[in-house]
Amino acid sequence: MTWDDDDLLRKHPQLERILIRSDEIHKRVRQLGNEISRDYADNVPVLVSILKGSYVFLADLTRCLTIPHEVDFMAISSYHGGTQSTGVVKIEKDLKTNITGRDVLIVEDIVDTGLTISYLLDLLGTRSPRSLRVCTLLDKTHARTKDVAVAYGGFEIPSEFVIGYGLDYDEKFRNLPFIGVMRG
Ligand code: PRP
Repeated sequence: MTWDDDDLLRKHPQLERILIRSDEIHKRVRQLGNEISRDYADNVPVLVSILKGSYVFLADLTRCLTIPHEVDFMAISSYHGGTQSTGVVKIEKDLKTNITGRDVLIVEDIVDTGLTISYLLDLLGTRSPRSLRVCTLLDKTHARTKDVAVAYGGFEIPSEFVIGYGLDYDEKFRNLPFIGVMRG
């Protein structure tokens, strides 16, 4: 599918600008898909999508994989202190897959402070997967309060509030095909 990013931007006056265009995203997702396919060529990894934000990325990423793999989903709520997450996470929906002995790749839309992914790595680590790694489309490296290893990162972005391609503001804008910045 192709989109007219500029036309969509004009139709959303709450948005200030496009940070990452849809064609750049698709090019990078294809590269990540190739890397993951190469690295997991001898395995059947389980891609664990953290809802809600990662559903668009997962759908595109999984179609760029050339190896057998499985997908599963976790839904969590993060308790936010102000605009930032606190790392206190409630599991709303757990995995159906038994990940013991499996190669697990967590798929996130964004790693910001790192608190959510750090919590998830600790939690899923207790289930004794064979390997456990993180793939995120967006990485706000400068916002980190918790150091986490990102094995596959799509784009490093500045500390701005971004929406689109799965990311929301008040549950809106998840469907936009680009990553955009809200007006301040
Ligand atoms: C976002 C994102 C990560 C988390 C990252 O989820 O999907 O799970 O925040 O933030 P952190 O690195 O500072 O912990 P959000 O709480 O916005 O929920 P959503 O995915 O359902 O929109």
